[in-house]
Amino acid sequence: MRAVEEINGVVQTAVEAAVWAPSVHNTQPWSFAVSGDTISVRADPERRLPHQDPAGREMLISIGAAVYNVRLAVAALGYEPIVHLVPDADHPTLLATVRLGGRVDPDDLTRMLHAEIPRRRTHRGAFSDVVIPRNFTDALAVQAAQEGARFAAVRSEPMVEALAGVTRAAQEVQSLNRDYRLEVMRWARPPGSTRGDGVPADAYPRRPDRTEPHFPQRDYSRDRLWGYHRPATRTLPTSPGVVAVLTTAEDGQEDWLRAGQALQRVLLFASAYGVRAAFHTQALEIYHLREFVREELTQGEHPQMIMRLGVTEEDAGTLRRPLAEVVVTGQDEQD
Ligand SMILES: Cc1cc2nc3c(=O)[nH]c(=O)nc-3n(C[C@H](O)[C@H](O)[C@H](O)COP(=O)(O)O)c2cc1C
Repeated sequence: MRAVEEINGVVQTAVEAAVWAPSVHNTQPWSFAVSGDTISVRADPERRLPHQDPAGREMLISIGAAVYNVRLAVAALGYEPIVHLVPDADHPTLLATVRLGGRVDPDDLTRMLHAEIPRRRTHRGAFSDVVIPRNFTDALAVQAAQEGARFAAVRSEPMVEALAGVTRAAQEVQSLNRDYRLEVMRWARPPGSTRGDGVPADAYPRRPDRTEPHFPQRDYSRDRLWGYHRPATRTLPTSPGVVAVLTTAEDGQEDWLRAGQALQRVLLFASAYGVRAAFHTQALEIYHLREFVREELTQGEHPQMIMRLGVTEEDAGTLRRPLAEVVVTGQDEQD
């Protein structure tokens, strides 16, 4: 019989790993309920973005990424993770359960990806000129495919221009819309903030980079001179890196959870080779632009994430809420 303490230790480590998943605006829209050898992953709908993400697509991608971390930690600690994705109209907040199965020795890939969980960071700027080779993005595509999603590096210049163009259009439209602006402001943290969620002021450069073609960042600072400082003498990078799109064949809740798992697997694999990712989901938050991307650029597949990948020496800041805030005990549980 498995010792209760050992099971508790694995489950605790898995939840600790889960929270290091990326989430839109670092909303961390999740909670975890632990019962014996099973972790239930739930949505925290209060943390959904009502204007940017009314359907909860980005919330579920974020939660999918957290589910992947749970799976990976369980596997790295020597147990088979038995995963059940459960989007269910009767239990709208319960999204997945992960149970500890039999003992299995972790393989090298599992160990490698697991080690990257605390190292992975979102980048918000240009990349150095280091070229990301085709066989590397092919390897990322294999990782995504294992999770039921498609990762496609965009190597055609006109298509990169088109994706940059829709991103700029979306950023402009969102910056003119008060509701969107307030939503970004709500999750942007001032320097010195002690909160454990939202995008901290050391997560992006004070002066936004201009990539060529230009992929604008979200405007977390809004002229308040937040952001990290770079020495004035430094030549600013301009490369967007490799642009890539993550897509799924269908577009339901389970697909979003799968996209999130695929995303996190791709990000951890990239991180293991020193490659970081920058995200641009602005265009996917506007119905007609997302449809345009789907019809014209992703061959009818549903775009779940537009990103850029590359090499940077900069390490953006990030933070998380304490575990006590995200682990619900039996009493607090509700579906
Ligand atoms: C679904 C989703 C959408 C995101 N969209 C953006 C985005 O448009 N711009 C951006 O800078 N970061 C975006 N991010 C990254 C989050 O802001 C980031 O994961 C969060 O702040 C935590 O930081 P970390 O990834 O460095 O741990 C997105 C992440 C997810 C999961």
